[in-house]
Amino acid sequence: MRYLTVALAKGRLAKKTMDILEQAGICCPEFHDPHTRRLVFTDEEKRMKFFLAKASDVPTYVEYGAADLGVVGKDTILEEGRQIYEVMDLGLGRCRMCVCGPESSRGKLLHQERIRVATKYPVIAKDYFYNRKQQTVEIIKLNGSVELAPIVGLSEVIVDIVETGSTLRENGLSVLEEICELSARVVVNQVSMKMENERITALLRQMRQLRAFDKNVQTLEKGRTP
Ligand code: PRP
Repeated sequence: MRYLTVALAKGRLAKKTMDILEQAGICCPEFHDPHTRRLVFTDEEKRMKFFLAKASDVPTYVEYGAADLGVVGKDTILEEGRQIYEVMDLGLGRCRMCVCGPESSRGKLLHQERIRVATKYPVIAKDYFYNRKQQTVEIIKLNGSVELAPIVGLSEVIVDIVETGSTLRENGLSVLEEICELSARVVVNQVSMKMENERITALLRQMRQLRAFDKNVQTLEKGRTP
């Protein structure tokens, strides 16, 4: 039996995904070694391989079939626009993609002014402003700490991820418009979906059951909290 390969976005999401996979019976003890620099982990018994990639590269590995499956944020899936199947919402890392800025920019959005938009996500920003809002804007690509842009006068607004909202609050910015909800998704290579359908479907079924069980436990625990 050939290896089924899973690309994981390295970081917190990979750890949480591995926790779910281990509950599904997959065994990769080396993955949890805090000192390891290994990028590929194998469960020989289950004939599965897992590798850690930069989040933005996960859809690429999956599209080209270097990985049969991948786990990555919806933001990356939208931004990369790869030919892959998105098959499951893991519900991890829930957050929102938003247009943010100082309150003084609200009117500029409302009146469809030709403003500057700084973002790490130019594809998502372009699609939102050009296709959904039909507003002509200038998009400026940044690589991080995007909240800086309106503060130092690079742009009127930003398109960025908002989770708790504390980065915005601490920098005097607000959510002005919401673009979409985000969370971690399972993606599958289009050929693997046909060739390895039975194994992939069985794994997804198990993951779905575990996620549903987790949610029930969380709901019950919340219900008990005074
Ligand atoms: C992300 C995002 C925001 C922040 C939002 O940044 O780009 O800056 O988290 O989280 P909050 O609403 O809980 O404050 P990240 O930490 O990934 O770093 P980056 O600025 O380099 O993108």
